[in-house]
Amino acid sequence: MASYEEDYKESLQNPETFWANAAKEISWSKPWDRVLNSDNPPFYRWFEGAEMNTCYNCLDRHVEDGRGDQDALIYDSPITGQIKKYTYRELTDVVARFAGALTGLGIKKGDRVLVYMPMIPEALVAMLACARIGAIHSVVFGGFAPQELATRIDDAKPVAIIAASCGIEPNRTIAYKPLIDAAIDMSNHKPANSIILQRPECEAEMKAGRDHDWRELEAGAEPEPCVPVAATDPLYILYTSGTTGVPKGVVRDNGGHAVALRWSMKYVYNINPGDVFWAASDVGWVVGHSYIVYAPLLHGCTTILFEGKPIGTPDAGTFWRVIQDHKVKALFTAPTAFRAIRQQDPEGKFISKYDLSNFDTLFLAGERADPDTISWAQEQLKVPVIDHWWQTETGWAIGANCMGYGMKPVKLGSPTFPVPGYDIRIINEEGGFAEMKRGDIGVIAVKLPLPPGSLPTLWQNDDGYVKAYMADIPGYYKTGDAGYIDEDGYLFIMARTDDIINVAGHRLSTGGMEEVLSGHRDVAECAVMGVQDSLKGQVPMGFVVLNAGVNRPEEDIQKELVALVREKIGPVAAFKLALVVKRLPKTRSGKILRGVMRKIADGEEYKAPATIDDPEVLTEITEVLTKVGYPAER
Ligand code: COA
Ligand code: AMP
Repeated sequence: MASYEEDYKESLQNPETFWANAAKEISWSKPWDRVLNSDNPPFYRWFEGAEMNTCYNCLDRHVEDGRGDQDALIYDSPITGQIKKYTYRELTDVVARFAGALTGLGIKKGDRVLVYMPMIPEALVAMLACARIGAIHSVVFGGFAPQELATRIDDAKPVAIIAASCGIEPNRTIAYKPLIDAAIDMSNHKPANSIILQRPECEAEMKAGRDHDWRELEAGAEPEPCVPVAATDPLYILYTSGTTGVPKGVVRDNGGHAVALRWSMKYVYNINPGDVFWAASDVGWVVGHSYIVYAPLLHGCTTILFEGKPIGTPDAGTFWRVIQDHKVKALFTAPTAFRAIRQQDPEGKFISKYDLSNFDTLFLAGERADPDTISWAQEQLKVPVIDHWWQTETGWAIGANCMGYGMKPVKLGSPTFPVPGYDIRIINEEGGFAEMKRGDIGVIAVKLPLPPGSLPTLWQNDDGYVKAYMADIPGYYKTGDAGYIDEDGYLFIMARTDDIINVAGHRLSTGGMEEVLSGHRDVAECAVMGVQDSLKGQVPMGFVVLNAGVNRPEEDIQKELVALVREKIGPVAAFKLALVVKRLPKTRSGKILRGVMRKIADGEEYKAPATIDDPEVLTEITEVLTKVGYPAER
């Protein structure tokens, strides 16, 4: 086997040979004409001319190859007290039948289908059934509010919505149907059908003509075969926070995605077919799409679908119980889950109660993995703890310690090296796009073309794609992250260069929250930024200046602002801090000094820019923050 260094070099020098080789692991119904079409940069197309089906590669193919009796999916739900297993044969049958139910409603190749589901097996069934018939799914995370759903409905224009009647959080059951009804009322586009899976915890009221009962449809459906789709056809659209607050519809193709994800299981995660892989994320996020659903199934593994939280369902030992009971080889989660476990079980008492002998590696991503958390996990678990760097846009790791090649020494705080396929450069945007010296922080960019699996464009928005990612640094994809590469070639991801923050591993736009706050009748202007939090990594903090003459109690307005963000964006925004200030610090040209305010809240050293309009405002901000306990003790 080639070394990491050899493969990395090969992937950049001869990308077509490298990825054509990886593509042998995928079953194609028609071979490609060209591995890579780069005639129209920055638009690149992988495996042009080829045809395949992602669902076939995830399911039927493994049954044909003799894996029919192996578990494909283990649903473990401490929140409802259920464990349910599906073999590859069973999952293929269920998906084929549900695909038949979809075609029975007239849903066909190219149609969009919005999926709004909690962490239950039917979420995977819905996604895979769409893939089977060539429909394009767009999964929306359950923690988003109706308005966010409505924005996605209007952009993707789905012909149908597939949902469960409710999601279950530790402290409450969330009825989904009223949220869906409200979203459809708000949206201009009206999906013709919705398919509702009734959960016993909270049954939904159905609207005649539009709403269909999942089980009834399924019972009357015939199994549907896989339809061949072009490798370049979209498999899904996943909306993610963008710089303006309007979510971006990241498109994923079928062929390149299957090739990259299957390759990653072996080389990034060191996982073999038949192994048990667990991504403790949510199907509503990219990690859930790639590593709960597609990659483990493409690779013939058993995937775990966990409906619970790292703590409180029932305790901080739940992860270890799942690893023990299902013989999990690798766990992939966000650092915040480990911070939560550590806060409740600092001495790792729960860990020692379980047999973790099958457990091999812990992978962390989604937000910066702080060295403290990594060291704690290393000491407690006695397995390698591997930080890797990711984005919704790329769909898989950009930087990682690729375990399939043998582990490189870990440097705390670094996701190690670029993954084969990603030509990572640190660019000085102010310095004529020159590359930064080793050790100097700059904008992280990837030289085009991006490898297979990365986004080919934004949904029906080629201009937005170019503007958001390609226009600033010609010939490069701008990641939106800033960082550096050290003397030894290790990557360090330090901060976002835009308004995106990561709250408990969930990607959110502070610009979106500012839009909501400024919509409140008493707010004259506002600024939202991410401040440090010992559990969630970052939490949003809003500063508002009230309109002249407003004399209602500040606490009432603050409560309304918190409620408004929850109503418009959703509970996942975790927006709890709205502070009323007299003025916002600005430069003389009127630019709000968000970075300086964040530093004051985080207790970091700051320097007011020479262009500040009135430095006294910073004293006022400090006073307000002190009253609410910031900078917080860490
Ligand atoms: N549907 C509806 N509401 C949801 C939801 C969902 N799928 N997921 C979260 N929420 C709600 C929560 O109930 C909470 O509501 P509350 O304000 O009423 O308490 C709110 O959104 C904020 O959720 P979260 O930020 O996740 O905080 P939490 O206190 O509920 O849990 C952790 C904290 C650390 C336990 C939790 O964030 C976690 O398990 N994180 C793991 C990381 C992860 O999965 N990342 C995904 C990318 S890899
Ligand atoms: P998402 O699109 O939700 O996966 O979020 C992507 C963003 O999360 C990246 O652009 C980074 O800012 C951040 N991120 C993800 N993984 C890491 C990591 N391992 N280290 C630092 N930041 C990370």
